[in-house]
Amino acid sequence: MITITDLRKIYRMGSVEVNALDGVTLYIDKGEFLGIVGASGSGKTTLLHMLGLLDHPTSGNIVIDGTDVLALTDYEKTMFRLYRLGYVFQDYALVPDLTVMENVSLPAMLRDDRNEEQIRKDSHGILQKIGLCDRRDHLPRELSGGQQQRVSIARAMVNKPDILFADEPCANLDSENSRMVLDLFREINEDMKQTIVMVSHEDWHKEYFHRIIQLKDGKVVNT
Ligand SMILES: Nc1ncnc2c1ncn2[C@@H]1O[C@H](COP(=O)(O)OP(=O)(O)O)[C@@H](O)[C@H]1O
Ligand SMILES: [Mg+2]
Repeated sequence: MITITDLRKIYRMGSVEVNALDGVTLYIDKGEFLGIVGASGSGKTTLLHMLGLLDHPTSGNIVIDGTDVLALTDYEKTMFRLYRLGYVFQDYALVPDLTVMENVSLPAMLRDDRNEEQIRKDSHGILQKIGLCDRRDHLPRELSGGQQQRVSIARAMVNKPDILFADEPCANLDSENSRMVLDLFREINEDMKQTIVMVSHEDWHKEYFHRIIQLKDGKVVNT
């Protein structure tokens, strides 16, 4: 599903160079729930950004489902992200002035192959899955952190992406809400055969992952 070969990312700040990714080679299987762990600064977010086409590596290759994604034009990348990838961030990143339903519908509205009826149906379906139908007309600030993160998962899933990327989605949640979010990921992974790549810093999250890779100084190390 995702083949990553000798991926490198060098950040240059003045005369200083940071090897944020220092030659990562990795294969991620379809339907896998992969955990990425490692100390702060080890390159986890950088790797996720490269795989999610949110940033461009300095060198290396990424092939997703047979597509050499780094060879795509900016427009093609945008379309690839919109149609095939979903994102969940640590800080939820919901639009504050939009309701829960509107936030969830947003990625579907950006596509030109969905009519209003379909969008309404898909958004409603996914809200049901996360158990927040009764909050559909609320604003994000009227929800708890855990509820907001579930809404952001619904938003990431509304277009039924091939791959879901999550960067420390439980970082701002207590253990009960973290478990709710992880259970939801597990359900999505099992029911929808969803490929999930999740960055985590909590040891107990490991019980959820099919496989774990550990980064250290921009390299994959054996766990
Ligand atoms: N935009 C950037 N500019 C310069 N350096 C960066 C940038 N983003 C990350 N880095 C550096 O790259 C390294 C890896 O960062 P990051 O991928 O955010 O690590 P993690 O997510 O594992 O904490 C760190 O040394 C960090 O300081
Ligand atoms: Mg990070």
